[in-house]
Amino acid sequence: MNKAWIDLRSDTVTRPSPEMLSAMTKAELGDDVLDGDPTTRRLEERTAELLGLEAALFFPSGTQANQTAINLIAPPATEIVAEAGSHIFHYEKAGAAALSGVQIRSVETTDGLLSADLVKGAIREPSPHLPTTAAVSVENTHNAAGGRVMPLDLMDGIQRAAAERGIPVHIDGARLWNAATALAVEPSEIAKFGTTVMVCFSKGLGCPVGSCLAGPKDLIERAWHVRKRFGGGMRQSGVLTAACLFALDRNLERLIDDHEGAKLFASRLSTHANIEVLEPETNIVMLDLKNRVAVEAAALLAEKGVLLAPFSKNRLRAVTHLDVSELQLLQAADIVGEVLN
Ligand SMILES: Cc1ncc(COP(=O)(O)O)c(C=O)c1O
Repeated sequence: MNKAWIDLRSDTVTRPSPEMLSAMTKAELGDDVLDGDPTTRRLEERTAELLGLEAALFFPSGTQANQTAINLIAPPATEIVAEAGSHIFHYEKAGAAALSGVQIRSVETTDGLLSADLVKGAIREPSPHLPTTAAVSVENTHNAAGGRVMPLDLMDGIQRAAAERGIPVHIDGARLWNAATALAVEPSEIAKFGTTVMVCFSKGLGCPVGSCLAGPKDLIERAWHVRKRFGGGMRQSGVLTAACLFALDRNLERLIDDHEGAKLFASRLSTHANIEVLEPETNIVMLDLKNRVAVEAAALLAEKGVLLAPFSKNRLRAVTHLDVSELQLLQAADIVGEVLN
């Protein structure tokens, strides 16, 4: 992939900057499985504070943190309500079923947004025949829906609908930082609608590795054991968490630039025929190709040095991030426009 000069497949393709690498080499370290890593502890405390939750635990991936949350909040043979295009349903290798014996009740929407009414309709009534609904999962921002932001009133309604039935809400906030940026609120204003909240540092924040699961102290203490069981105990994890601390200081506030970049890319592209561009709300731009197959279009674009991700049969995804400049976005839009015309 080194030949490519504009890589917009994902915000996960960023490389740690020299400054981030330098912070990683200077990290104070311990053995986090044995008796704790001080840098990791600092990141966990800071993340919990940012999210306004009691405690947080560092994970090697968002998937493992999501799966740990499911394992904690849903006993085997129960069900979790989630939107049909959500990451936990679609992109985690049926982990809920395989690792926790939990099934997901997927709710179809046109725009990725669950609502209180949809959640109420999906929570099962007590029955000798039906599975028991154990939890609701909400993704904010919603990746497959084009980085769509779930508005706070919807989050509030969903949380109330779940609370009425005495069940928790998990927030898959892989890009919660982007949602907070788009809504111009503190991350805690979103996190407060979840019992457990997952956030990633390896997406728009530009870290090579890392996510946290946050929530009540007792649950996060239990999460430590589940993470260990899932093989996620890490030793000198401070090498990684130093990057995350650096990113919270340096890369959080600049996410707005990625959102502006996505708008710029989308508006430049919309001047080209044959492509329908979904108006971006954050850093993800979905391109619907009227008559072209996305995989073939992506291969043609790659030959011209622009990498986009085929997302479905006729849809390509472009994601802006800190390793792509405004000029590159304009160049990429023109190449995409020319090639696809
Ligand atoms: C919404 C969402 N949740 C969870 C994940 C999983 O994160 P990871 O790739 O670190 O496992 C992703 C990854 O892209 C994501 O987009």
